[in-house]
Amino acid sequence: MTISPRRTFAIISHPDAGKTTLTEKLLYFGGAIHLAGEVKARGANRRARSDWMKIEQQRGISVTSSVMTFERNGITFNLLDTPGHEDFSEDTYRTLTAVDSAVMVIDAAKGIEPQTRKLFEVCRLRNVPIITFVNKVDREGRAPFELLDEVAEMLQLDVCPMSWPVGMGGEFEGVYDLYANTLSRPEGDSREYLGKPIPFTDLNDPKLADILTPDGLEKLVEEAELAQGGYAAFDAESYRAGNLTPVYFGSALKDFGVAELIGALADYAPEPRPQPAEPAPVSPDGTEVTGFVFKVQANMDPNHRDRIAFMRLCSGVFKRGMKLTPSGSGKPIAVHSPILFFAQNRELADEAFPGDIIGIPNHGTLRVGDTLSEKADVRFTGLPNFAPEILRRVVLKDFAKTKQLRKALDDMAEEGVTQVFYPDIGSNWIIGVVGQLQLEVLLSRLDAEYKVAAGLEPAPFDTARWVSAAEPADLKDFMDQNRGAMAKDRDGNPVFLAKSAWEVGYIADRYAKVKFAATRER
Ligand code: G4P
Repeated sequence: MTISPRRTFAIISHPDAGKTTLTEKLLYFGGAIHLAGEVKARGANRRARSDWMKIEQQRGISVTSSVMTFERNGITFNLLDTPGHEDFSEDTYRTLTAVDSAVMVIDAAKGIEPQTRKLFEVCRLRNVPIITFVNKVDREGRAPFELLDEVAEMLQLDVCPMSWPVGMGGEFEGVYDLYANTLSRPEGDSREYLGKPIPFTDLNDPKLADILTPDGLEKLVEEAELAQGGYAAFDAESYRAGNLTPVYFGSALKDFGVAELIGALADYAPEPRPQPAEPAPVSPDGTEVTGFVFKVQANMDPNHRDRIAFMRLCSGVFKRGMKLTPSGSGKPIAVHSPILFFAQNRELADEAFPGDIIGIPNHGTLRVGDTLSEKADVRFTGLPNFAPEILRRVVLKDFAKTKQLRKALDDMAEEGVTQVFYPDIGSNWIIGVVGQLQLEVLLSRLDAEYKVAAGLEPAPFDTARWVSAAEPADLKDFMDQNRGAMAKDRDGNPVFLAKSAWEVGYIADRYAKVKFAATRER
């Protein structure tokens, strides 16, 4: 049997740029859904079932990530959803560790927005190659040159326009594919693209004048020639190395550029890549089944206390029922009910291949960052915990619920929703987050899922660092002398709670033998 190639990717964007619309169109073009509007409808249904997701409804945002798989022309696409809100959590970062490439959606009227940029930086850390989709060209937008220059300058990337819009907004006459020399143009009352590209020999083809207005044609020829001369030519190697981004202009809403985008992912986006691991990177060609958990979601179904660990398969052919050993516990588990996330429904997975994501139901044995493998002889690296930027003290309203609170905090720490720190002195548990929204998620879930009424108070600390030292005695000295600021994280690792980043620097100078880490790799 030949395995179909995999393309495991995520869409990164700022809220409102059109990620949901584009996701829906990708699934639609990929044949995974049949009616436009299903992604949102499904979202609404899902939300209605889960209380804590009320936040999503109220704020109109998507807090959870999910995975959608579709197939087109013999290629299996795994699309990992990343929450797009500006208060995103570590979840978002970690999801990006599980993809081989990303599509960056920008709004033609707005260009690069803060969230796009943040997510892009995460991709850059791992050299994740990016295809750019400039969305909403059916509306008034900024000049294409301005947008391309912004991407090039702000993100320090070579840009290569693959297509060119003929006008925008009221003057929009279509999108010209600079490589295939085809024009997709708006038709009918809805001014949508109906999927019939018109071929030309090149930009000098006289037939273009039959279709475009004289103004449109003149502008297209002039701009496209300038663009082709002024920007880098497409180079697949440079794209895959993360140095160049091909840019497609389109409209997710009106279907422009969507098929081209899928084509680009199929033709240029990398196959599953080797993953950083110890003792050595793991190649997708390896025969041993290995993978890592990049996300754990609890209570997807409020009636069950199960959680689903999302594992990216890195090597080997996974078969249902297989025994895998998580690096966390060391005890092998038999994976009897793995889930593959097809867009429409969840199916039991009999087999999965490198690049695929499988959901593994479990009762809390699997943690974010865990490696799962057949022989327990590798450990994937590079799934960081980030130093929290906001620390809060958790105040319990009913002391009879202490145990439930601890369980809830541990659970959510496990999922990567929040971090939890148990101070060495005193009983005020402290939680840490990297974005404000996580605090709301925490309170809402405590209430809805664990029936624990709690509040949050400012903590006397501002940030946290994981501490370690080559000599255990040095670490012990440090901890003894700073007891009031010491805590343990969920896994029992020592953490120094600091009043400010300045204090971290000050203390680090005084204790040269102690290492202060802002991230902790699991
Ligand atoms: P997001 O997930 O990135 O937050 O964006 P989403 O797809 O929800 O799109 C945000 C808004 O932009 C939506 O309008 C959507 O219809 C619109 N939009 C997306 N792509 C295009 C496009 O190519 N052209 C135009 N003109 N609009 C586009 P909304 O009115 O906020 O939501 P809705 O009521 O239409 O769902």
